[in-house]
Amino acid sequence: MKTWITGAALALATLLAHADDHGTRTPPLPAYQSECGSCHVAFPARSLPAASWQRLMGTLGKHYGTDASLDAPTAKAIGDWLQANAGRGEAPPDDRLTRSRWFVREHDEAGPGVFQRASIKSASNCAACHTRAAEGSFREREIRIPK
Ligand code: HEC
Ligand code: HEC
Repeated sequence: MKTWITGAALALATLLAHADDHGTRTPPLPAYQSECGSCHVAFPARSLPAASWQRLMGTLGKHYGTDASLDAPTAKAIGDWLQANAGRGEAPPDDRLTRSRWFVREHDEAGPGVFQRASIKSASNCAACHTRAAEGSFREREIRIPK
């Protein structure tokens, strides 16, 4: 049972409302969906602040141990769109949205070790549990945690 009493909790609720609204309010950019949704889901633009997206788009050749580089016009189009639709708040460590405060708090209840399950592998594997993550939707009723 959650109690939204403190300012911090309210700020979190606002941030999550933005993250959750992403799919319905921000028209998806086809290039972002196809280029940044091939190895993992295209993470909601609002799930990271502008500074994080800028760093990520500037270092695609060295992207978390892999090469995700794009031709310059595509990178610019995606980068501009991410800047326009970014979230607010602090840049998380390594620009990993899975290390954002909102993410850690919201996923606390999933329990320790759940992200390491063979069926899930990583917290960044949103689609393992959020059945409509590929469409940018993260509603509670769409969550199914695999065994
Ligand atoms: C060639 C595969 C590949 C492509 C293409 C790719 N990524 Fe990634 N991305 C990865 C891998 C691998 C990770 C690390 C996943 C992990 O540690 O769980 C990652 C992680 C991330 C993370 C951090 C997630 C977290 O919180 O742990 C972000 C943000 C991200 N990618 C954004 C993008 C963007 C934006 C694009 C498009 C420009 C993109 N990625 C394209 C492979 C890719
Ligand atoms: C192990 C399964 C699992 C994975 C993987 C996972 N989530 Fe979640 N997610 C959950 C659970 C469980 C909740 C909590 C729902 C609740 O509060 O009842 C949640 C909550 C959320 C919420 C808040 C939804 C709401 O309406 O309150 C968002 C947004 C969210 N996750 C985004 C993500 C993103 C983005 C990723 C990938 C980077 C991700 N999640 C990865 C299980 C997962």
